Amino acid sequence: MKKVLIATEKPFAKEAVDSIKNIAQKAGYEIILLENYTEKSQLLNAVADVDAMIIRSDQADKEVLDAAKKLKIVVRAGAGFDNIDLEAATKNNIVAMNTPGQNSNAVAELAFGMMLFTARGGFDGKAGSELREKTLGIHAYGNVGKYVAEIAKGFNMKVFAFDPFVKDSDIEADGVTAVKSVEELYKNCQYVSLHIPANDKTRNSINKDLLSLMPKDAVLINTARKEVIHEAELLSLMEARPDFKYLSDIAPDCAETIANKYPGKFFFTPKKMGAQTAEANINAGIAGINQIINFIEKGDDTFKVNK
Ligand code: 3PG
Repeated sequence: MKKVLIATEKPFAKEAVDSIKNIAQKAGYEIILLENYTEKSQLLNAVADVDAMIIRSDQADKEVLDAAKKLKIVVRAGAGFDNIDLEAATKNNIVAMNTPGQNSNAVAELAFGMMLFTARGGFDGKAGSELREKTLGIHAYGNVGKYVAEIAKGFNMKVFAFDPFVKDSDIEADGVTAVKSVEELYKNCQYVSLHIPANDKTRNSINKDLLSLMPKDAVLINTARKEVIHEAELLSLMEARPDFKYLSDIAPDCAETIANKYPGKFFFTPKKMGAQTAEANINAGIAGINQIINFIEKGDDTFKVNK
């Protein structure tokens, strides 16, 4: 019987795990569950004799993939696969996949949750502001960006987007204004919601020059990755711009400094919460197990992200 490890330091909702088990059982696969693990050694032991693995933001680095002697496929149940060492996967003949789109709505809803919470001063009883008629820039118009646009239109915001990989006509078809440069996006928008992946090109790319372009009472919402922010320059910007607020799904490394120096100017989730809904867990988890079965049984490598 083929073994599939679900290695989730931050577990899926129970309904998601039950659904995955159900599908696996029908296909004759055994599920091994490693949840809430605290030591890397637990993951290293667990991967030793499994054929497939489903992970979330769990680190599938070289050491883990080298220890996985029978592993044929690792599926990141989610969008960003910056936690998988793709080179090590390829060297070990392991197919790496993600499950694009499956948790996107959850992330988009969190972006709005954080925006509303902040616009209303953290629900502190004092007068806040509204989102209606405000400008929103969507930085990268992928699966999450599209959901953000859809929700923003319900709030009657003025929505702009920048994405060099998406045709302007596809952005405009959603009633969103496509802008020609990242600078134009930040210049036009009081709110900017980040949806870029973390990679060699984007790490530290959100810097002071860019953020300085934002109009008064600027709010940056980051449900992407903390690594895309140039933190030293973010601190310098926050010093120069007391009107600026930074909202992030997972605290930056400089969280303590921000909390001490700029109270009321930030909101950080304690754990990455974007995809943390039962619906997103079910969608991504089911996609994950189906992709594994389809790959092992039929060689279907749709959603493969390594070479
Ligand atoms: C993603 O890339 O899909 C999100 O960041 C979700 O990450 P998580 O599964 O660890 O919550």
